[in-house]
Amino acid sequence: MIDLSALRDRFPALARTGDDGRPLAIVDAPGGSQVPDTVIEAVSARYRTGISNMDGAFATSRETGEVVAAARRAGADLVGTDPARIVFGANSTSLLFHVARSLTRSLEPGDEVVVTRLDHDANVRPWVLAARDAGATLRWVDIHTGDATLDEASFDDALSERTRLVAFTLASNGVGTITPAAGLVRRAKETGAFVAVDAVHFAQHRVIDFDDLGADLLAVSPYKVFGPHLGMLAARPGILDELDPYRVRPAHDYPSPERWETGTQNHEAMQGFVAAVDYLAEAGRTYGTPADGSRRAEVRAAFEAFGEHERGLSRRFLDGFAEIPGGRLWGVADTDRLDERTPTFAVRLGDQHPLKTAEALGDRGIFVWDGHYYAMELFERLGLLETGGAVRVGFCHYHTAEEVDRVLEALHELA
Ligand SMILES: Cc1ncc(COP(=O)(O)O)c(C=O)c1O
Repeated sequence: MIDLSALRDRFPALARTGDDGRPLAIVDAPGGSQVPDTVIEAVSARYRTGISNMDGAFATSRETGEVVAAARRAGADLVGTDPARIVFGANSTSLLFHVARSLTRSLEPGDEVVVTRLDHDANVRPWVLAARDAGATLRWVDIHTGDATLDEASFDDALSERTRLVAFTLASNGVGTITPAAGLVRRAKETGAFVAVDAVHFAQHRVIDFDDLGADLLAVSPYKVFGPHLGMLAARPGILDELDPYRVRPAHDYPSPERWETGTQNHEAMQGFVAAVDYLAEAGRTYGTPADGSRRAEVRAAFEAFGEHERGLSRRFLDGFAEIPGGRLWGVADTDRLDERTPTFAVRLGDQHPLKTAEALGDRGIFVWDGHYYAMELFERLGLLETGGAVRVGFCHYHTAEEVDRVLEALHELA
């Protein structure tokens, strides 16, 4: 396993201790990552030097314009596209609702909208409501309940010449499943549909190649990628210009992507986001082998190193969890298929209520989530929604093998 432990010193929150004086094990990475020191400094630097709205005839306003441009370049390097395709907003959910509201006007009765049972509700509900308001027909893509992977036959069955929108996730925030996205996008595009992919969970664990993927729209939340609370879309330019967003009158004169950014943006968070992407690039230079000196190549190298480390964490967790009496796990459990999952695990201990397990872990300084984590269709389909969902243990690149062992030991005790 590649040793990334030196990177932990960059994250002040990871040094926080619990009541017993031990460091906390904050293993809720799918809920949001912690941030490195440079991100914290970048956000406060924006406040210290003076904040301002954009487009004023004075220095702090010009600086804000530079921050926004730098954030678009950072977003482009993170997802593999052009800065002109990057849109920012409060969070991914708001941005997806924003696009869905605009799409509603181009849908008609008889049109079909395809969503999946693997997705977070942020990439389900906006499209369900758009279909409802336009009188379009909804088609659901099922999962294989055995290993919580996307049912590709069901995906293909849902597509037709009437399909106008296909929305699916690159990775499940509930069970960690990575979908075979390239093939799915290709098949969806053959129908001529608009394809929206949710990369919010995926982005923490693997490099995204938006331009190569060929989707029309991709959502990422910088706060899952070691940056501040913020939402981001990458969008094919055609989409940005074809769809007509609800907007204030002055925004009619704005070119894309600004036309899509309603109201004053969080410029200080954008400055923090630039530092987050620079952190990834630095990790790529230190632990990976970038193909060239570009930040994009460095980001890719970082995720190659992170992927290797995280596969080691996943193997350790899955091997250890298999030994826990009464332990049940949903998602890919086969250690020969680690490329098909992130280190996000949905588990239960016998009949113990997930909230009870999460509370007991919390008392031991181990922070995990419980419930459905907004992946509501998934937990309903798995038959877990009514009885408390599952406990989610989620690792990322800054977690160590010792933390995996600590979680496993605690689960053993509680089983
Ligand atoms: C897979 C996935 N999609 C979408 C979202 C929603 O993102 P945001 O919190 O930025 O609205 C989340 C949030 O947890 C998520 O995990």
